[in-house]
Amino acid sequence: MQIRNPSTAGSGISLPLIVHGRLIHSTSRTKIAILSKATLGVNEHGKIAFVEANTDPTDAAKRYDGFAKASILRLKPLQFLFPGLIDTHMHAPQYPNMALGMEGDLKEWCEGWTDPIEASYSDTSKAHRVYPGMVDTLLANGTTTVAYNSSIHPDATIALAEICKAKGQRAIIGKLCIEVGATHGNMVADVKQSLKDEQKVVEHILNKLDPEGDLVFPCIQPRAGSYVSEDQMSGLGKLCHGYKSPLSPDSGNNALRVQAHMAETQLEYKNMHELHPGYKSYADMYNHHGLFGPRTILAHCIHLTDRDIEVMAACGVGVAHNANSNTCLRDGWCRVRTLLDAGVKVGLGTDCSAGYSISILDSMRQASNVSRHLAISTGREKWILGFEELVYLATMGGAEVCGLKDRVGDFEKGKDFDALVVDVGLDDNVNVEGWEGDAGAMLRKWVFMGDDRSIRKVFVSGKYVAGKDLKA
Ligand code: GUN
Ligand code: FE
Repeated sequence: MQIRNPSTAGSGISLPLIVHGRLIHSTSRTKIAILSKATLGVNEHGKIAFVEANTDPTDAAKRYDGFAKASILRLKPLQFLFPGLIDTHMHAPQYPNMALGMEGDLKEWCEGWTDPIEASYSDTSKAHRVYPGMVDTLLANGTTTVAYNSSIHPDATIALAEICKAKGQRAIIGKLCIEVGATHGNMVADVKQSLKDEQKVVEHILNKLDPEGDLVFPCIQPRAGSYVSEDQMSGLGKLCHGYKSPLSPDSGNNALRVQAHMAETQLEYKNMHELHPGYKSYADMYNHHGLFGPRTILAHCIHLTDRDIEVMAACGVGVAHNANSNTCLRDGWCRVRTLLDAGVKVGLGTDCSAGYSISILDSMRQASNVSRHLAISTGREKWILGFEELVYLATMGGAEVCGLKDRVGDFEKGKDFDALVVDVGLDDNVNVEGWEGDAGAMLRKWVFMGDDRSIRKVFVSGKYVAGKDLKA
């Protein structure tokens, strides 16, 4: 398999690196920090060594050890540095299906579109055909971290992990577990085999692909409560607790991440109860099996009970809010405000192909619109997500949900340099002339009107992996 290895060779950019110019990032749910003449240093390990406001980069190079010969990247007046975008929920095998099957509800769409395409990855060569271009496209759109759902096939899942690593995208990946309720043969009814396959993927990532835990993180992946029996849920819980994370050896037994769907439709909630009788709530079921903790990512969470929210908050789980997908499938409106008020972490997801866009900018717009529809339908403004909140959800919120808040999400010293150089002068659609006033206007215009055409450079862990300039 030929995979282009990301490299800074020939790009004129090497580490250590100093970036000088406008820097924008989210510092809390209500605050966006804009530093107009910032100087940011990236050390030879791709980590942020310093961030200063209003300093000269040549002078900073002299003051910091190891930066005397650093390359200096000077941003232009209509450019800014922004944290890499984080997609907390995306289905890699469904990528070829984007924009197809939007007529049905969740059940019809799963049976008519999702099961057949996912089942087709039993042929691993399909993974090698689809995934490299998909990862390139996501990176070019500024998505530096993705929590990927895969298919039921360990080999296709391992291929996805290898492609992400080779291309330099940060990713959370696990084999999808489906035991019942699917069609077109998109399931593995043998629980022992399914658990063995999940373990194979986890061990490949932990022991062979990324033993340092730099870029690719394994996860446990039950599709949803309605697709995996009690037996397998408890097996997955045990698997989850059997590994220590190389990143946080002190994280106790709760080392592996978990990704699953939860409470997407009322029917799905009812089916969960039928397969797992006796639990007080959906959350109680996952929690009983040891699948709830600060590294658990739950997609959708629309039809929650008060009890669900109570358990979710107590366990520190995170929610992937997929506004585009929830609208297309007519699932309902996720009450993001209620979750945030309850102390539940929230990030944004594209949920392709139920959502038709891989862009996190689109996720921000759709999250904004869904929140406004909630306000229209209830007559209460409290549901509306403010611009600062949208920026937070797309960056730091996503990092929290992915269990990566100490590594990415903003430009704090010590974090990995996952960043975009955005140039709002490149794309006429963004409609920035330079006289709009503050840099906040530039950011708003890019978020609501821009796309990958404005992304000049994409860095992951200091490595220059994508962007218009790399292609040129
Ligand atoms: N529920 C079970 N599988 C899926 C999926 O692939 N996408 C979405 N949105 N919901 C699901
Ligand atoms: Fe999904």
